[in-house]
Amino acid sequence: MTKRSSKETALAAGDAWSRYWASRTLHSCPCAFSGNYDDEIREFWLGFFGDLPDGARVLDIGTGNGAVAFLACDAARQSDRTFHVEGIDAAEIHPAEAARQHGIDASQVVFSSRTACEQTGYPDARFDAVSSQYAVEYSRVADTLAEIARILKPGGRAGFILHHKDSEALATTRAEIRAFDFLRDEAALVVPSRRLLKRLGYARNPQDLAKRLQEPESKRLRAEIEALIGKVGQFAGENPQAAFAQAIALQVARILNGVGTNGPAAAMESLRILEDEMAAHRARLEAIRKAAQDATDLDRFCETARAVGLLPSAPAELRRAGRELLGWTLSASRAT
Ligand SMILES: C[S@@+](CC[C@H](N)C(=O)[O-])C[C@H]1O[C@@H](n2cnc3c(N)ncnc32)[C@H](O)[C@@H]1O
Repeated sequence: MTKRSSKETALAAGDAWSRYWASRTLHSCPCAFSGNYDDEIREFWLGFFGDLPDGARVLDIGTGNGAVAFLACDAARQSDRTFHVEGIDAAEIHPAEAARQHGIDASQVVFSSRTACEQTGYPDARFDAVSSQYAVEYSRVADTLAEIARILKPGGRAGFILHHKDSEALATTRAEIRAFDFLRDEAALVVPSRRLLKRLGYARNPQDLAKRLQEPESKRLRAEIEALIGKVGQFAGENPQAAFAQAIALQVARILNGVGTNGPAAAMESLRILEDEMAAHRARLEAIRKAAQDATDLDRFCETARAVGLLPSAPAELRRAGRELLGWTLSASRAT
């Protein structure tokens, strides 16, 4: 098998995120922040961007729907300056629509989808600052840090917020992965649902469909599915962080209940879409789990940064109100 380039790997990984950003969510922590990031995360970025000179060029990598790029614009406005802000992401992104929902003017930022941070295509020494929030750690870090060093001006700065292995977000991620394991290993609802829909798919007309629904095998499959839905409900009750498992079970139930009205083919298609969404959600969770850093990982990160000509600061833990762990912060400047 041929080895994939950094860029190919990045674009393939971006596919799972494309679905997420298509929902027009502004950022990747919608449960924790209703508008754009606030509190300590906002403060960190306003501090980082706040020192930049008028006319500075800023690039936000792994920008998603642009949350940090918009914070760079806020920092410019607060200090009465103008920055030229760009945002890139390996996924297909929708920042304009996400921004509109929050009354943000997205026209101040130039966004590019399907652009890997390992290979941005920008000329050397283009930017005064590069930001990355919960992004660089998903990429091939050595390649991305080398790329950042290349596109930063001498003396330019990079700012990072990175996933922390002990953060609340990672605890939730692990709980959600357990829920997906449960849905796969102990309550595999989709399997009997597909079997049932396949049987019903042979129906020649609505009368035949009604008859097939009453056949003993159909009834047995429905009973099996109902028992599994009950099992998922109990699991979700005992694991509040995995409540989405119940939402999935209810969606399966809705699809099956609609079979009389919508027909088996439409139900089968809805089930396929649901399965695709579940697979993309799980892929994102696995990526987050893999991306999260502990102190040793960060030592390695700093060593790699030094090797490509970046001078990193000491990493620090970022906490909300001194308690909830949000991640690591780190900055680095390009040697002059
Ligand atoms: C957790 S989201 C963070 C989004 C945004 N920075 C935020 O804080 O809301 C991670 C983002 O990094 C992007 N990403 C992952 N690997 C990438 C790569 N190699 N190049 C560019 N973007 C990448 C994903 O597509 C995703 O949009």
